[in-house]
Amino acid sequence: MGPRTEWTEGLVGRRVLCVGTDLVDVADIRAALTRQPRFRTKVFTDAERAYCDVLGDPAERYAVRFAAKEAVLKALGTGLSGAALTEIEVLRAPGGAPSLLLSGRAAALAEAAGVRSWLVSLTHTATRAHALVAGVGAEDPCQFRPFR
Ligand SMILES: CC(C)(COP(=O)(O)OP(=O)(O)OC[C@H]1O[C@@H](n2cnc3c(N)ncnc32)[C@H](O)[C@@H]1OP(=O)(O)O)[C@@H](O)C(=O)NCCC(=O)NCCS
Repeated sequence: MGPRTEWTEGLVGRRVLCVGTDLVDVADIRAALTRQPRFRTKVFTDAERAYCDVLGDPAERYAVRFAAKEAVLKALGTGLSGAALTEIEVLRAPGGAPSLLLSGRAAALAEAAGVRSWLVSLTHTATRAHALVAGVGAEDPCQFRPFR
């Protein structure tokens, strides 16, 4: 078995309970940002807006965060009405890696589903933004861990 990073080590013995994915047209988000004055604050948190607005054309970064929020709602089995979109926040580590922080109804839904943490991967181009998320459960005490 190859070496584990600290990150992958934390995943050993834990199960993926649900997955969600979403593909968003950047043009749709650009239009919403331009035409709907409240879109930014209704959908995105202060920290998300601070990152998205920091340089150049923000539409790609907003679009991929929108995709992540929809992907989480898919993973939780609810529609867009399941939680407020600001209750699903995409955080960003200094190196750029994204992570998810849930609050309010979104956090309650995840808790009820047994999800203890989330995996998220984002990618975007000038035209499309895609998010993939997975909800991970608590460590399974019955898991066979031969290398520990
Ligand atoms: C991670 C990386 C390869 C993505 O580059 P890319 O193909 O140009 O960009 P993509 O559109 O596919 O992905 C962009 C998204 O990747 C995510 N990302 C950035 N750095 C990341 C990292 N270190 N790990 C995981 N995801 C990362 C971000 O969510 C970013 O979107 P955002 O800026 O809107 O938050 C590039 O940012 C990079 O080389 N980073 C530095 C090296 C590094 O830390 N690599 C990690 C190994 S995967």
